[in-house]
Amino acid sequence: MCGIIGAASSRSVGKILIKGLQLMEYRGYDSAGVVLNKDEEILRLRSLGKVSKLEEIMISEKPKAFSGIAHTRWATHGAPSEENAHPHGSHDDIYIVHNGIIENHEEIRCSLRNKGYEIASETDSELIAHLVHFYKKESQDTLQALMKATTELNGAYSIAVVCKEEKGKVYAARQKSPLLVGLGIEENFVASDPLAIVNITEKFHMLEDGDFAVITKEDVVIYDQEGIIVEREELKIDGAATATTKGEYKHFMEKEIYEQPDCIGNTINGRLGESDVLDNVFGLGSSNSFKDVKRVQFVACGTSLHAAKTARKWFEDICEIPCYIDFASEYRYRNPIVEDNTLFVTISQSGETADTLAALNYAKEEKYLGIVSICNVPTSTMARESDWKIFTNAGPEIGVASTKAFTTQLAALLILALSISKSQDKNQEKRKQAAQDLRETPALIREAFKLKDEINTITNNISSNDNALFLGRGMYFSIAQEGALKLKEISYIHAEAYPAGELKHGPLALVDETIPVVALAPEDSLVEKLLSNLEEVKARGGTLYVFGNAGSTIEIKKGKFINMPKCGDYNAPIVYTIPLQILAYEVACLRGTDLDQPRNLAKSVTVE
Ligand code: F6R
Repeated sequence: MCGIIGAASSRSVGKILIKGLQLMEYRGYDSAGVVLNKDEEILRLRSLGKVSKLEEIMISEKPKAFSGIAHTRWATHGAPSEENAHPHGSHDDIYIVHNGIIENHEEIRCSLRNKGYEIASETDSELIAHLVHFYKKESQDTLQALMKATTELNGAYSIAVVCKEEKGKVYAARQKSPLLVGLGIEENFVASDPLAIVNITEKFHMLEDGDFAVITKEDVVIYDQEGIIVEREELKIDGAATATTKGEYKHFMEKEIYEQPDCIGNTINGRLGESDVLDNVFGLGSSNSFKDVKRVQFVACGTSLHAAKTARKWFEDICEIPCYIDFASEYRYRNPIVEDNTLFVTISQSGETADTLAALNYAKEEKYLGIVSICNVPTSTMARESDWKIFTNAGPEIGVASTKAFTTQLAALLILALSISKSQDKNQEKRKQAAQDLRETPALIREAFKLKDEINTITNNISSNDNALFLGRGMYFSIAQEGALKLKEISYIHAEAYPAGELKHGPLALVDETIPVVALAPEDSLVEKLLSNLEEVKARGGTLYVFGNAGSTIEIKKGKFINMPKCGDYNAPIVYTIPLQILAYEVACLRGTDLDQPRNLAKSVTVE
């Protein structure tokens, strides 16, 4: 969601900025723009649609400039259009790019109009340019003006600013929206995402909330919210580890699906011993603190929320403690009652999801025992803000639809359940079984990949329908929800998941001869009940696609039974996710959608 890049360099920055935007395309956007602070003038180029369009315009202009800012916009305030695309300017002097949402934009708009400012776009972001311009008239100092302007902003922002008079300089500010500084040789950068510049530098400073930065090609100066110069920790981000090519695959999503055996291996490596989880895998002191955990509160969004829902049974079963699960966007608005010794756990691929971060900040003020994050991006805000953490080590996930993030989150959640159980000396045999199942997961996922041809025999029927139902029971209801989410977000087929037992309470009315019904039928204690529910579908002439194994075979007249590899109790939910990802991917390919960047969606949802 919105990507910012700014550069000050001894070489011309046009290409660097465009390349940076391209590397952030995966975050989701609908328009793009760039401002180049050329010797003689400011050049602003903006276009609706892909960055490649902007690149074409830029190539024809052949601009030479040693500083500039650029942006990919994901529309929030105002439709996707050239006028609403960033950078926004004020009096052809101050230009800004912004990621986030300014909540008090109506109030600021009125006050700026009263001061005589003409506002050209429908965005909240343009107002920032005018505010900086207004305060600069007072102080003649762009940094001071930016600092003053931000005191008027309520909400989240990361901002980069250039001023026409100040060639070779970029200003930046951060509040509740990701922004980092990249350190190069005779050049420095700001960006929302290290991926934008990781091909140029491995050295970064993460800005903290309230920070400002001034970058030139020689220097980076960071100020805190009091305006005092501060040092921020220098981080090294390995360029090779964040490689972002599709390799032999057609799409990033496809690559990410087939990477999962290695990713799961990376999640469990160094965390599991012979027959149990190792101590303190969530950080020093975590095992000791986990002795006191009496319940767990999970918050997350989307796919990450499905991971929490799936894992609940592990916490009940292995740790014998209750679990509460909330949508991050809802949690803090319902005055949650926090009981003593509750562990607060956030789950997030990006570690920057605004709703999850806001929930985490809310939780910090409550009497939780501590905050754990399960996260894929070690440099993320969430990781920094938590008491304990575990990185899922899945590598960069570029496809907007989460795949490897989900299965590695499940592995990490099982590791969390094992850690709490070990700290409390409970259910050692179950822990041993779970550790063994985790180790066998990569091989079982490889087995599941072999089902691709069989899955492709059902994709035509699914892709020619505009609706689909997904059914499961217990943990597999959450896996069915994840399967339905995958299908809907990349193929635009309306897909809903239900616990199979709920079918007769309403959704059965949808079952006719056309709607495909996908069911997960692993051999568990609920399989008999599930099979009876599937009979209800058969009796209405429904088309059933069942993923199961020997103990769950069902005679299917219309549809298909797909035989899954025999899994352990603790790895089956991870393995049953795989065919649903492949199904969604193959169906989306048939429908010809832009499946790495599905319409209207963003990878990193940094606004509330
Ligand atoms: C779906 C998907 C989203 C994310 C959600 C949370 O495929 O990717 O539902 O899971 O936006 O994102 P993170 O995990 O980064 O907090």
